[in-house]
Amino acid sequence: MPFPKKSVLITGCSSGIGYHCAHALRDAGFHVLATARDEADVARLAKEGFDAERLNLDDSASIDRAVAWCRTLTNDRLYALFNNAAYGQPGAVEDLRRDVLRAQFETNLFGTHELTVKLLPMMIEAGEGRIVQNSSVLGFAALRYRGAYNASKFALEGLSDTLRLELRGTGVDVVILEPGPIRSRFRENALKMFEAHIDRRKSRLASVYEKKLSQLRSSEDAPFTLGPEAVAAALLKALQAPSPKRRYRITTPTKLFYWMKKFFPESWMDSILAKVE
Ligand SMILES: NC(=O)c1ccc[n+]([C@@H]2O[C@H](COP(=O)([O-])OP(=O)(O)OC[C@H]3O[C@@H](n4cnc5c(N)ncnc54)[C@H](OP(=O)(O)O)[C@@H]3O)[C@@H](O)[C@H]2O)c1
Repeated sequence: MPFPKKSVLITGCSSGIGYHCAHALRDAGFHVLATARDEADVARLAKEGFDAERLNLDDSASIDRAVAWCRTLTNDRLYALFNNAAYGQPGAVEDLRRDVLRAQFETNLFGTHELTVKLLPMMIEAGEGRIVQNSSVLGFAALRYRGAYNASKFALEGLSDTLRLELRGTGVDVVILEPGPIRSRFRENALKMFEAHIDRRKSRLASVYEKKLSQLRSSEDAPFTLGPEAVAAALLKALQAPSPKRRYRITTPTKLFYWMKKFFPESWMDSILAKVE
């Protein structure tokens, strides 16, 4: 009898990395539970043959429904969770309202956390599992005008590092992916958040924001941009390696900043990072 396929739930499958990884994992023989927060995206994913369900990380009731759906579909046997869904809230730290910063954390950290701890018991019970966190180069290197996103991804990394220690001996691995930049709808979605939440005309940094806006509106790739297949390749390693690494550093900027942070004094790093647009 063939082995049953391993099930993986992915958040944020409407576009970009999540959408690409849903296909890549299915092609690699996994049973993919594809989730998205918008009904139309769920319908599109279902049409593509995925088991698909709504999941909005900002809504605990939506998380509960998705967890129940996952338990039923997998017979309480989820192998892995790919915490992919998130957005970037651009804006200088001094221009971030409390509610705007909170919203960034609601999605990127608190929702991700709630989903994780609600799915985790299935993995612990089975004595095996993988929680794969889609962090970022900005999960360990801070860049100007990205403070909310930086903070949410730094926090995700801290929480994940702690969880990894606490799960030792359970058979459940916690793996952090660090991409960036990757071709997706990320910039387009960040532009919407910038326009909705930053009062740029009143800001001390109004002229900086003009430049920022044209950067966010540009369809040109940032230097060193890779396609989402680079993340899918790392995700497959995280899911298939007998002992996955703690971190997969995916792009050139990630690898470069990692090594530079390790060896350069902070004053040098500040000078370098302050030059990144
Ligand atoms: N692109 C990059 O350069 C880059 C670099 C490093 C890390 N990452 C990380 O990669 C992940 C995927 O981003 P991406 O680049 O593929 O961007 P993307 O195309 O904008 O995809 C983001 C996904 O997250 C979903 N999402 C946002 N808020 C949500 C919520 N409250 N509940 C459920 N889903 C929600 C979006 O759904 P909607 O379509 O409904 O908005 C979309 O499916 C993110 O964690 C991001 O931080 C991206």
